[in-house]
Amino acid sequence: MSDLTTPSVADSAGDDLAASTSDASLRRTEARSIEIEAQIARDPSGFRVMTGDRPTGNLHIGHYFGSLANRVRIQDAGVETFILIADYQVITDRDGTGPIHERVLSMMADYLAIGLDPSRTTIYAHSAVPALNQLLLPFLSLVTDAELRRNPTVKAELEATGDRPMSGLLLTYPVHQAADILFCKANLVPVGKDQLPHLEQTRVVARRFDERYGRANPDRPVFPQAEALLSKAPVVLGLDGTKMSKSKGNVIEIGMDADTTAKLIKKAVTDSDRHISYDPENRPEVSNLVMLTALCTGREPVEIAESIGDGGGGGLKKLVTEAVNEFFAPIRARRAELAGDPGYLMDVLRTGNAHANEVGDATLAEVRAAMNMVY
Ligand code: TRP
Repeated sequence: MSDLTTPSVADSAGDDLAASTSDASLRRTEARSIEIEAQIARDPSGFRVMTGDRPTGNLHIGHYFGSLANRVRIQDAGVETFILIADYQVITDRDGTGPIHERVLSMMADYLAIGLDPSRTTIYAHSAVPALNQLLLPFLSLVTDAELRRNPTVKAELEATGDRPMSGLLLTYPVHQAADILFCKANLVPVGKDQLPHLEQTRVVARRFDERYGRANPDRPVFPQAEALLSKAPVVLGLDGTKMSKSKGNVIEIGMDADTTAKLIKKAVTDSDRHISYDPENRPEVSNLVMLTALCTGREPVEIAESIGDGGGGGLKKLVTEAVNEFFAPIRARRAELAGDPGYLMDVLRTGNAHANEVGDATLAEVRAAMNMVY
């Protein structure tokens, strides 16, 4: 099964990748995530979590409720956590790095403001960890061009770039992402659904590496089989009821001030029915604002909608503005303080990079030993 020249291997891996996004597989992953949560509550020591973000813009409240809050919760439960600022992924689908320095520091300010704690969580950047990047070389030998081209997330990203041709990095970045996960031997990766094909690719790479090079010690694979952890949090949509995305201008950033937040919410899309109800199916825009209020206040969406009653879009917007601004006020205050001290943010990054390098160097040493390349 380990020989890539056997077409059936590549084919079955391609099926794995396609299968990882099927409904049945998604339900299995969701069910497994619930089990893993229970395991974390019992004993967090069996897990090493790794996840990350592309520094392409400021983090927004959709990121917060969808994934960032979850990371803090897992960190606070006692799980060792690695958070990657994925700077090399910025250039998968764009020309140049843009204002990367500012974005990396801004992301660091967001991370620390929401409660990621650098004394417990390692925060680092791709470009600062050579051993991580070197893993890409042996890993690329374990995948075929055909299976890379089938990755549904890469396909969607290519389509989103319009007429751009596929770059070598866009095609292969899921393998680089396997290196992100495996350089620290993470076994748990909190991600959204769109990342599941990359998780499957990571497991394929880990398995094939051990099939080829781990035979000397088959009971102790070099790499773990990493699992996805899907969050139960509802998706927060943008202020127009579609996916929250900077390019659509429908985003409330974590670091925005209260007035800007109020102005943006004033322009949010609602509908013509003055009676507010929570009905995500038929009233996605109104229901999204109700849900956002619920997330910020801990109240139930249906109860919030009833309390607004015939107050209409105006009543709803007033409530959601107060809720968002109140919830994020302490985070924003901390963020402003942190943003005013770039030297500190850079120190945290350098410390994280140094730790990531220690971990990555140890993994690369094992990889080279397994490949008989220690000279
Ligand atoms: N691709 C992820 C995203 O766009 C970011 C990322 C990079 C990541 N490396 C990772 C996520 C490793 C999980 C694990 O959101």
